[in-house]
Amino acid sequence: MMLFGTQKVNSKGHLEIGGCDAVELAQRFGTPLYVMDEALLRQNCRDYLNSFRSRYANTDIAFAGKAFMTAAMCRIAYQEGLYLDVVSAGEMHTALAAKFPMERVYFHGNFKSEAELRMALDHGIGRIVVDNIQELDLLNSLVAEKGKKADILLRLTPGIDPHTHRLIRLGQADTKFGLNIKDGSAISAVKRALECPGISLRGIHCHIGSQLLDTEAHTAALQVMVEFAKQVLDETGFAIEEINTGGGLGIRYVEDQRPPTIDEFADVMTRTFISALDEFGLTHEPKLVQEPGRSIVGTAGTTLYTVGTMKRVPITEAPGYRIYVAVDGGMSDNPRPLLYDAVYTAVAAGRMDKSTSQVVTIAGKHCETDTLIQDARMPEVEAGDILAVQCTGAYNYSMASNYNRLPRPAVLLVADGRAAVIVERETLDDLVRHDVIPERLGR
Ligand code: LLP
Repeated sequence: MMLFGTQKVNSKGHLEIGGCDAVELAQRFGTPLYVMDEALLRQNCRDYLNSFRSRYANTDIAFAGKAFMTAAMCRIAYQEGLYLDVVSAGEMHTALAAKFPMERVYFHGNFKSEAELRMALDHGIGRIVVDNIQELDLLNSLVAEKGKKADILLRLTPGIDPHTHRLIRLGQADTKFGLNIKDGSAISAVKRALECPGISLRGIHCHIGSQLLDTEAHTAALQVMVEFAKQVLDETGFAIEEINTGGGLGIRYVEDQRPPTIDEFADVMTRTFISALDEFGLTHEPKLVQEPGRSIVGTAGTTLYTVGTMKRVPITEAPGYRIYVAVDGGMSDNPRPLLYDAVYTAVAAGRMDKSTSQVVTIAGKHCETDTLIQDARMPEVEAGDILAVQCTGAYNYSMASNYNRLPRPAVLLVADGRAAVIVERETLDDLVRHDVIPERLGR
């Protein structure tokens, strides 16, 4: 059995998270329910900072908000000494609502609207990560108009193709993100940025992909980035102050995945960085920045569901049958299995002491084939039981929808036997709040 953070089996044979009995949480707060383990969130933040800084002191870590953007998480990231990465006015607004210091925020995106750029400048955002030349020119005119300065990084495409699902590969040459290094777009953007009076180029950025289970692509990209920094120094005399290689470290969703630990990742990355700096003769110790999302919040999240109907269905391809166990959520609270063929592990939260004697298919309740887990090992379960799907902390709440008009679940933060609601459950009224019936359709 895989258990994460403070998860354990209590004396009742129930799953416990943050000292709270998961079955009791489900009764008290309803299901589906996202439960976040505060101690593990904080531990992951600390692991990142300590394991990088102990090897390369000039490192900063920014939490990639997109993985789990909530005001409470912004607060935790801040308290733990992290920076924050946002990608939209909405994420920026959330950071502001959490009073996250704007000078510690990175603003990303391949298409930032003028209104978003103005918002970023008005709030004194720390870094704008410029994706393309149009954005650079627009930003340059906005800073001139406002009489401000903007600190920027340039988003580059290192041309590294990582091994992960095709939809979450981002560093290869053929992508909508960033400025291509190989075709010369990147170096000409650097030269252009250096000529913009209101713009201070601070560094370069890349993000090559997500849920990477080895470090090969990361180290290859880091090498390319340092080599590019050397090219910039040679061609312009400008010493890049900051090299940010995005996020991407994978987590263990199922038993047979073995992602590097944060410490192993830090070890490989810092060794690669230091030796590349040495190789290219960059002696000024640029800052190294990492932007993890999933590996900070992923394993800290558990989704609790209530089992509804069960069905035994003959399999067409082979003799035998499949047991479908339907739960009271599905693709609206976790679209990842359908989008990325993502795999998960589930446990029966009230029967942790029972042997997992059967293999079942866990299905959602949507009008779709919204299988959450194809083959889940389970004890005998019955309607009303609580199922816990593990490692749902990243890109579940943040990608949730109201498909089939299901209200989005509440999010709890649990620690030391206490549970706090950090996002309230949507109500049925919330679902119709923005609906408007034009008068001509009748009163
Ligand atoms: N920095 C940048 C610029 C990014 O685009 C991303 C993720 C990250 C950092 C954080 O990456 P992480 O450490 O979480 O892998 N919705 C997909 C993941 C998309 C990731 C997009 N960018 C999923 O559910 O797997």
